[in-house]
Amino acid sequence: MRLQLRFLLPLLIVLGVAAWLAVPLMDRLTLRWFARDLAMRGSLLATALAESVVDATPDPKGRKLRALFDRAAQDERLVAIGLCSVDNHLINASQSFPKELDCESTKEIASQPDPTRRVGGGTVQVGRHPVTSEAGPIGDLVLIHDLSFIERRSQDTRRYLILLIAGMGGVIALVTMAVAQLSLRGWVSGTRALLRGEGLLRPLGPPLPELAPIAADLRSRLRDLQDEYRRAHGPETEWGAERLQALLRSQLSGDQVIVVSNREPYIHQRVDGRIEVQRPASGLVTAIEPVMRACSGTWVAHGSGSADRETVDRDDHVRLPPDDPAYHLRRIWLNPAEEQGYYYGFANEGLWPLCHVAHVRPVFREADWQHYREVNRRFADAVVQEARSDDPIVLVQDYHFALVPAMLRERLPRATILTFWHIPWPNPESFGICPWRREILQGMLGSTILGFHTRFHCKNFIETVDRYLEARIEHEHSTIAYGGAETLIESYPISIAWPEGESGSHWPPVDECRRRVFQHLGLPEGHKLAVGVDRFDYTKGILERMHAVERLLEKHPQWLGRFTFVQVAAPTRGQLDEYREFQERIHRVAQRINERFGATGRPVVRLLASHHGPEQVNELYRAANICMVTSLHDGMNLVCKEFVAARDDEQGVLVLSRFAGAAREMPEALIVNPYHVEETADALQRALEMPAAEQRERMASLRTTVREFNVYRWAGRMLTDAARWRLRRRIEERVERHSAL
Ligand code: G6P
Repeated sequence: MRLQLRFLLPLLIVLGVAAWLAVPLMDRLTLRWFARDLAMRGSLLATALAESVVDATPDPKGRKLRALFDRAAQDERLVAIGLCSVDNHLINASQSFPKELDCESTKEIASQPDPTRRVGGGTVQVGRHPVTSEAGPIGDLVLIHDLSFIERRSQDTRRYLILLIAGMGGVIALVTMAVAQLSLRGWVSGTRALLRGEGLLRPLGPPLPELAPIAADLRSRLRDLQDEYRRAHGPETEWGAERLQALLRSQLSGDQVIVVSNREPYIHQRVDGRIEVQRPASGLVTAIEPVMRACSGTWVAHGSGSADRETVDRDDHVRLPPDDPAYHLRRIWLNPAEEQGYYYGFANEGLWPLCHVAHVRPVFREADWQHYREVNRRFADAVVQEARSDDPIVLVQDYHFALVPAMLRERLPRATILTFWHIPWPNPESFGICPWRREILQGMLGSTILGFHTRFHCKNFIETVDRYLEARIEHEHSTIAYGGAETLIESYPISIAWPEGESGSHWPPVDECRRRVFQHLGLPEGHKLAVGVDRFDYTKGILERMHAVERLLEKHPQWLGRFTFVQVAAPTRGQLDEYREFQERIHRVAQRINERFGATGRPVVRLLASHHGPEQVNELYRAANICMVTSLHDGMNLVCKEFVAARDDEQGVLVLSRFAGAAREMPEALIVNPYHVEETADALQRALEMPAAEQRERMASLRTTVREFNVYRWAGRMLTDAARWRLRRRIEERVERHSAL
């Protein structure tokens, strides 16, 4: 009803205004028509009476003339008639001739454009018509017409007009309402359909064409609402430490979890006579440590710290983390020759450059390979020692232990072995360089599940096996059967643990971090800060990054003195020539750039080649305008995820290499090809000028992804697959037992 009123009310107003304008106009028109009509009738009457008037005028008593006038005045539209002499005296008149009028006044009235007057309560029109005999002019015949009938007619016309307008209005209103009702019904049902999702979801077909703009609006609003909701509440079933623990309890019935990695999660170092605990710069450790806290298992790793031996018990165990022990670390001791051959040699001079296509030649030495095999054997032995049952879940980490899975399979055939390869896997041709390629593949296929960060790396691995081993590959299920056992090859993109609480509220506010970092670096307010945080490794694209900074300043000199790039470069593998030379080169390039742009008095590049703890790094992330991750090749890269997690203010821009596995999950970053200096410099410029709203939009979306796809989800997915595998094996064993009976 309200809706109909909305249609009717404007219509009624329009019609009212029309009537208000039309009625006086109509009045004026009818008056003019009738006045003209009367004037004509007056002339005719005067002409008709002229002869009789001439005849009757000689009558001295004027009776004849009077009788003539009385007769003529019986006409309903004629009030009176009179004859004025040539010198304007009333010669004779009908009885009805108004007293208020005489020849003088009638002459004056008749000469007006509007010859009407109010006389005796009514309106009259006065006309004067000359009468002439053969002897000459006799005078003027005065005709006084009654205009009251015009008023009556005018009222009638007004009534008809109003009725007509009202009638038309009624008809138009009815038609309008009918049409409005019909189209409204169409709209309402169309809009309801839209709200039900029909026409909003593409497979169900497009909405009515007239509703298309509304559909588009609704669609984008719904998306916004979903995003807002997800940002506010997080994913519906978020993975966290508790959920991972619940999974272990329910699906793996509290089975023992053992992790094997080269790098240990906490390193005890003797510094100035005191023991310090250090967290190593390692993506692997960043990811696995929170999982171990949740699983409360045993971690087997190389004890590389100068005070490590002093801090273990008789069984080489130490409880970690130091402030809130949740799991055991079993340290394995390596002598310098072993460390040199296995770690520096085969792992980091051979496999590392082999798998990262970073244009550094891999070096393979027979002696290194022997050490690699030997150390892998020692770690496998340690796992067997640590196992409390014959079927633990063993998480073998990275390229340091390619042989451990098969060694474990031999000793613990019922163990569930999950191997995760944290670095890229190259194509078969590249991998073919390795003289022990078959042994490496055979070793890895001892795994129950073999994980890589991306599908692309899985595909490369399967093709490599296809090329160098006689194995049965089931592409559909992504499994490889070799030596009587089957391995599932799956992608599990690794991540970080999302900071406690919604916003990592234990951190100092962003402004505070910025103030501290700026003070430390001597930067003025409003200065722009870009950061890079990496191990000092040639795969990280640090050189390319510095070239991009240099190019930015060439192309946009307005940033000189207003922009600083800080590179945290954690010392790593410094014993290797390739690393030493690379690190020296970076120092030289940083110096050259600073000298080149030295006029500003403030160095453009700040190379901080020392170990930085997680708090310091976090402070830098929170202070920065830009974070640069420009790896030339990277399995995943967790620095970009840490940066995003640190920015609870939803500000800051991530410049990310397309050759880092993370680029697939983080398209809201500014994705660059680090080999293309120009492109990276342009991305820097874009980041420097990016409005706060766009930064917020991108960062909020990145945060949603990293929060949802966190490391608990990574571990949870692998362990769920492991649980399924174990269940299948149990069923198979039961069936075998039954059939043997
Ligand atoms: C990469 C490897 C890890 C390794 C880390 C640090 O992330 O995938 O296995 O721990 O680099 O290297 P480092 O040789 O110092 O352990």
